[in-house]
Amino acid sequence: MDTKILAVGNLSTEEATYAQAVQLLESGEVVAFPTETVYGLGAVATNEKAVAKIFEAKGRPQDNPLIVHIGSNEEIHEFISDIPKIAQKCMDSFWPGPLTLILPLKPGILANNVSAGLNTVGVRMPNHPVALKLLRQLKHPVAAPSANRSGKPSPTKANHVLHDLNGRIPSIIDGGVTGMGLESTVLDCTSEIPTILRPGGVTKEMLEQVIGPVNEAKLTDRAEAPRAPGMKYAHYAPNAPVFLIDASLNSIRKAIESIHREQKKAALIATEQFQLPEADYYFTLGNDGQIDEAAHLLYQALRSCDDTDADIVLVPVFPKTGVGAAIMNRLEKAANGKWYLGND
Ligand code: TXA
Ligand code: MG
Repeated sequence: MDTKILAVGNLSTEEATYAQAVQLLESGEVVAFPTETVYGLGAVATNEKAVAKIFEAKGRPQDNPLIVHIGSNEEIHEFISDIPKIAQKCMDSFWPGPLTLILPLKPGILANNVSAGLNTVGVRMPNHPVALKLLRQLKHPVAAPSANRSGKPSPTKANHVLHDLNGRIPSIIDGGVTGMGLESTVLDCTSEIPTILRPGGVTKEMLEQVIGPVNEAKLTDRAEAPRAPGMKYAHYAPNAPVFLIDASLNSIRKAIESIHREQKKAALIATEQFQLPEADYYFTLGNDGQIDEAAHLLYQALRSCDDTDADIVLVPVFPKTGVGAAIMNRLEKAANGKWYLGND
């Protein structure tokens, strides 16, 4: 299969692009498209065979449910049995936007493989002109996980999607670089106190201003089955192992010296204040203190490590407040919890 890149942004041709994407989706195909968080790989959520193609193209485990994307609030009543008050408040305040709400699923409407057999489903309305236009022309809910091969960082550019899924999907709508750069916040609205299953651009602090106290699910609560099934899989990882490290120039310098003593090469992913000439490769997370910029650049930086011969990737940690919580959630998974402690 040839993977075609469909352009938008040129008024004279873009209507044809949307018509083509709608036609592909209606005929049971998958289409990759940009959202304000990351690129998604979509299929019509009521079509089981189409949804199965998402799992196949990504190499995604079958027990990891997908997020359903809608273009208008009315669509939600087709497949959600009850909208709790707090969920309605979240919809009013944060949609369209990077917030996925886990809600009770009305049985028998969506394809079974969307929710991986659970009686709940994640729903969001993306805040991206291309995604919204596509969803509003299609007029069907679209199941879409991030458009990467399972385990890799999510794509923030059409080229990332092409790199991972070339030959596996018919087309990618190229809407340029995504905005936020990290996946949406996932909020479970079916528990008594709503629980953040995955931190993202809509932060705990922002949610609490609107709906009061929210809980946070622990990343490595091994006693319990993970509440967001995706949490148990390795994620966001480049080929070389990622290590977290203290956010101090001294620690990073010592770590690089120790890596060099072992005849190995180090890639450093960090904000500008930590850029050290000793690092064999450096990928920027922007200026110090601009946390949104760090989120925006993180996946590109992790992917860039795969174009180097670095043996180890070092990433100084961020404080876990605001968007820092989302960055650290992805980094802890990319590193699989490993810290660079050195042996000096
Ligand atoms: O920003 C985003 O959310 C992107 C764009 C494309 O919208 N999508 C995305 O989807 O990140 P995905 O499949 O990569 O991540 C979905 C996460 C997974 O961790 C999954 O386990 C969790 O949401 N999830 C989905 N449905 C769930 C459910 N019913 N209960 C608990 N967790 C659920
Ligand atoms: Mg994903």
